[in-house]
Order: sequence, then C-alpha cells, then structure tokens
Amino acid sequence: MPDFKLHYEQRGTGRPLLLIHGFPFSGRMWRAQLEALSANNQLIIPDLPGFGKSPVSPAPSVEQFATDCLAILEDLHISEKVTLGGLSMGGYIALAAARLFPERLAGLLLLSTRAGADSAEGKAGRDATMAKVREGGPSVVAGGMYPKLLAPATYNDQPAVASELKSVMEDATAEGVIGGLTAMRDRQDSVPHLKNITVPTLIVHGQEDAVIPPSEAQVMADAIADSQLHLVANAGHLPPMEQPAEFNRIVSEFLRKM
Ligand code: MLT
Repeated sequence: MPDFKLHYEQRGTGRPLLLIHGFPFSGRMWRAQLEALSANNQLIIPDLPGFGKSPVSPAPSVEQFATDCLAILEDLHISEKVTLGGLSMGGYIALAAARLFPERLAGLLLLSTRAGADSAEGKAGRDATMAKVREGGPSVVAGGMYPKLLAPATYNDQPAVASELKSVMEDATAEGVIGGLTAMRDRQDSVPHLKNITVPTLIVHGQEDAVIPPSEAQVMADAIADSQLHLVANAGHLPPMEQPAEFNRIVSEFLRKM
C-alpha cells in the first residue's frame, strides 16, 4: 500500500516521541500534551486509520497500524529511534511495534492498556458491537463507552474535559470504528513477548480505570525488566485528559532520564 498515509501533527524538536490514541478517539485526545511534551521532544501525533483525518485502512490489524505509524518517521526523514507511546488500543499497537520493530524503539509508554488478547467472550462482544454499528451507526459505541471512560470526579468537576471527550468520539466514523474493533479483536497475546522488551518502559494507568483494570498494568510492569509503573489518582481510562499536569510531569521526567 505505497500510497496509504496517516494524517499526523508534529510539534517541537529533539528526540522523537510518537503518541498513538485509543479507541474510538483521534489525535485530538492529546491536546493537553501538545505544549508540555513538545518542549524538549519532537512530538508526533497520528490519527489512526479511519479516525480523525486519516483514511480508512483496507486491512485493519494492530500490526498494520503499527507499520502505518512508523511509516510517518520515513515521511519525516527520521532515522533516529523513537519513543513510542500508546493508550489502550494505541498500547496494543505499541506492543505490536515492540514485537515487530524492536530496532526502531528507544522507549515505550504503555498507557491505560493491557498485553493480553481478547477472550472468546471479548471477541464475541466485538462482533456484536460491529453488528450494532452497521445497523445504528458509530454513535452506538460512543454512547455505550462514554459513561465508563472517566473517573467519577472528572465527570463532576471537569465538565469541559467530559464534553471534549464526547466531541472527539462523535467524530468517529462507522468504517473507522469497525476497523478498530476488527484490529482489537484479532490482536495476538503480547504477554509472552513482554520479557523481550529491553527498552526503558513507562507504564501509566488511572487508579479508577473501569475499562482496563490497573492489575493489567501490574502484569506488564512485572514482566518488563526496565519498567516503572505510575498509578494516577482521580483518573479513569484517560489520564492524559483527566489529569494532564500529573501525566505530563510523569512522562517528562521519564523522558528526561532516559
Ligand atoms: C480503547 O480505549 O482503546 C479501547 O476501549 C480498548 C478496548 O476496547 O480494548
């Protein structure tokens, strides 16, 4: 697919840092990171295939999405190793990149994610959701997920964050959502590969994540030798949006010491 290119934003100069968004969001979810994380790094923020301004993938898989994200580095003529971060589905993609292209990575950020594959029940759930999206459009997904994504304090005290999240999800298209669900359903188990990750790895998880429990972050921290785990208080599934100052501090410090 030589002509398939992702839309991306880039800002700042320095060592490259590429951040991959979760499902069903877009690069817009990193708005509170744009300034802070580009102060000392070249920050690159793609929209995954079928989300934001990127075209729909003809062959959605986490491996293909990882390949598409790393192709941005060619586009920018970056031969240096990259620190790759991904939130939730973005983390599944970052783990696929760590398996397929370890030589391209300087570091990893595994955010609100898990290394395991979907269970049989989880896969059936993805299929059921796809059927609902074909029938009722992508808002079915946003409507179902929205109440689970943020910590209770975020819904109560940060209405601007909650409405920004809603607006990001409302942008998702049916094709993008179906591609994302397909890629997540078919992803392989990355747990056996965690021991092969040798780059410095930062794991960040919201203490109140109701989508992926913090115990999944611990599984990754236990298996990756050079890793550190931070649990963020008063955050659900989206610490970069819910607690941006704390999130940016943790990431900046990790990048500085790398
Ligand atoms: C995400 O936030 O990217 C997804 O909810 C993850 C998933 O459904 O497994």
